[in-house]
Amino acid sequence: MKGLILSGGKGTRLYPLTYTRAKQLIPVANKPILFRVIEAIRDAGITDIGIVVGDTAEEIKTAVGRGGRWSVRVTYIYQEQPLGLAHAVKVSRDFLEDEPFVMFLGDNVIQGGITSLVEQFQQSDWNSQIVLTRVEHPEQYGVAELNGEGRVIRLVEKPKPPPSDLALVGIYMFDHHIHQAVEEIEPSWRGELEITDAIQWLVEHGYKVFPYIHRGWWIDTGAPTAMLEANGLVLEELTPVVEGYVDRDSEVDSRVTVEKGAEIINSVVRGPTIIGERSRIVNAYIGPFTSIYHDVVVENSEIERSIVLENSLIRDVPARLQDSLIGRNVTLNRSPIKPKAFKMNLGDHSQVGLL
Ligand code: DAU
Repeated sequence: MKGLILSGGKGTRLYPLTYTRAKQLIPVANKPILFRVIEAIRDAGITDIGIVVGDTAEEIKTAVGRGGRWSVRVTYIYQEQPLGLAHAVKVSRDFLEDEPFVMFLGDNVIQGGITSLVEQFQQSDWNSQIVLTRVEHPEQYGVAELNGEGRVIRLVEKPKPPPSDLALVGIYMFDHHIHQAVEEIEPSWRGELEITDAIQWLVEHGYKVFPYIHRGWWIDTGAPTAMLEANGLVLEELTPVVEGYVDRDSEVDSRVTVEKGAEIINSVVRGPTIIGERSRIVNAYIGPFTSIYHDVVVENSEIERSIVLENSLIRDVPARLQDSLIGRNVTLNRSPIKPKAFKMNLGDHSQVGLL
């Protein structure tokens, strides 16, 4: 069995962060989402993994390499334009050959991994199995309809009104029949070759498509609020370790991870929270559900339920930062230069919520 991770696309909903970084490489609890996807596939016993890449190919290749770190073999498949999930399968034909495979969207985070899904599919004679979960707003996703025997009979992409509350989580199992399906379908109204249409083609041509109902949490990290939510959920599951330095004047609770070389000086840190390698927290308050990535300085400031990426500096900020997504090399501090005013140098699509 092979693995196929989709890591192309532009990530427009996460601008400005994704102007300069592939959305699949944004860390959740200090580990890029794509690394979590690779680990989930590897843990299910699959070591031959193809990664579909687009505009951000070089960055992804640099971060992931050939996969040796995870004891897997990675093959990169270049997709010139994000023309749809079924198009990504089409361009991966040579890599996939006729083997069954799991397809995993590179921006999804799921609780509990995919081992039991892969086992169930391997033991069945099904042609496809799709992971579904009940959601409050099915119209934002691909939605499935099942018949009385629990078999998938209809799939629609982002339907209004939705035929059920069963959304397609971005994880799919296929055998080689999917290759004919992706050749037969036509682009949708949004100009994409939809994987939902390809699966519908399988259903209509008598192939067996069954669901796998996922009961834990699952987050499609496409938007900033979802990213913060995923960060909180993953932090809650981390086993905390303190490998850095915490001075005697600091108060750090038992749900805090302090990575190597990090320093907590005269500060209060409430978990679940992670402080990355070589970061310095000085006279600060770091509240729950916060991930501070590596080489960050937080001084005389307070921050809660947020993600801060590498090399950023937060100093002397007069109010608590909350629900924030702060990119790389960002400086946020009090300006000593008169007049006393907010002075900002923000990239396109930045959003600042003032008091
Ligand atoms: O997250 C679950 C949803 O994912 C499903 O419920 C939908 O049925 C499915 O179509 C998909 O919807 P999205 O609108 O969220 O897909 P998005 O365009 O965000 O792409 C998902 C991932 O696949 C993302 O990591 C980028 C990558 N991708 C996307 C396209 C369209 C590619 O690698 N190539 C592509 O052509």
